[in-house]
Amino acid sequence: MSKKTLQPPRGTRDFYPEDLRLREWLFSHFRAVARRFAFEEVDAPVVEHAELFMRKAGEEIVDQLYHFELHGRHLALRPEMTPSVARMVMARAGALRFPLRWFTLTQNWRYERMTRGRKREHYQWNLDIYGEPGVSAEAELIAALLQLLDAVGLAPDDVKVRINSRALLEEALRHGVLRERPDVFEPLCVVIDKLDKIGPDKVTEMLVDPEGGVGLDAADAAQVVEMLKARSLEEAAAHAPEGSPALAELRRLFGLLEAYGVADRVLFDASVVRGLAYYTGVVFEAFDTGGTLRAICGGGRYDGLIETLGGPAIPAVGLGFGDVVILELLADKGLTPKLRRELDDVVYPFGENERPAAIAVTDRLRREGRAVELILGSPKLKRVMADSDRSGARQVWLLGPDEVGRGVAKVRDLGSGEEREEPLPG
Ligand code: HAM
Repeated sequence: MSKKTLQPPRGTRDFYPEDLRLREWLFSHFRAVARRFAFEEVDAPVVEHAELFMRKAGEEIVDQLYHFELHGRHLALRPEMTPSVARMVMARAGALRFPLRWFTLTQNWRYERMTRGRKREHYQWNLDIYGEPGVSAEAELIAALLQLLDAVGLAPDDVKVRINSRALLEEALRHGVLRERPDVFEPLCVVIDKLDKIGPDKVTEMLVDPEGGVGLDAADAAQVVEMLKARSLEEAAAHAPEGSPALAELRRLFGLLEAYGVADRVLFDASVVRGLAYYTGVVFEAFDTGGTLRAICGGGRYDGLIETLGGPAIPAVGLGFGDVVILELLADKGLTPKLRRELDDVVYPFGENERPAAIAVTDRLRREGRAVELILGSPKLKRVMADSDRSGARQVWLLGPDEVGRGVAKVRDLGSGEEREEPLPG
């Protein structure tokens, strides 16, 4: 076997115990915040019919699909969770009580060009609300993601959530640029999403390119790019039609976020449109204020997705929050927690004669729910003590011939250094 084959494939990760401790620490915060916001966990297969993820708007995510033919079926590893969740909601739409709140915590696969914070597998926490058409749902999601950032130790100023509305952009364009061609709105958003990465000139070029799926004339393309510069609702209002419902929704959302006490952590940004085709309304992304990383998380309203799958019209809004970028940000800020093994007791028989007594002690402690390492083999006491200390164990049970003869064990408390004797079981 070649050396390369013995490495995990590029862009994927092995998780050693210390890596997994960190991952579980993050997941425990994801779950705790989901619980506080009354979301229920669901899950779906990692392999789905590839068609579920195929869309025609030119999204990167479709080109990045890990997919394969097997026994005449075209299957794919999920690149994201949203289509699977939508499929699940659709299957039981008649029986579910709306609005519903579901969360998922899953590994997703995308064959990405690798850059900082971008891997070929990542874990993603998703929060989705189905059946609520109003922005009170968006406000809940944004409040939840901010609570997550607080829970992992970031300061309010470390991250800002940038909010926009695709509906606002669509309204503004419907009377001009898109009057004749409303169908190019989705591919147009996919192109605009690249603004941060490739800059306004290249975006304009792509909007004009007759082969690019949008095909605007140069003046229209320039107007679109100009509109993306708005950084306040007042600036956005200049492009919006009279009495714009989308603008009114955004105003309502910012008002609600004030009630959550997070007004200073959110801002309007017309350049945020998101790279997935299915969004229809409010969209948002959280960024580190240092500006060194890609989006920490993102989401938005996607009221049409279930219909495109052939189901009823059910309003939906959600977010996806990956494990990679947030852990990079915490590392940059020196906030990665130092997590030790969770061990309560170490039980050390001095020799094989003492092992039956050590097993009895271990068994009792484990049945009490404690995490216990029964020392295997016959390492030296010094090594056992050093390892116990390093692993964060609370106490070490020492069973020498003398103690066992007297029906006791010597118990050393590693916190205080004190020793006491405890009777052995029965
Ligand atoms: P997304 O923006 O593609 O949205 O991904 C959401 C988050 O997942 C990103 O902000 C990032 O933290 C993480 N992520 C995505 N791709 C990668 C990657 N290659 N490597 C590391 N992290 C990554 C969605 O997936 C939507 N389905 C979210 C959603 C849920 N919208 C509504 N409901």
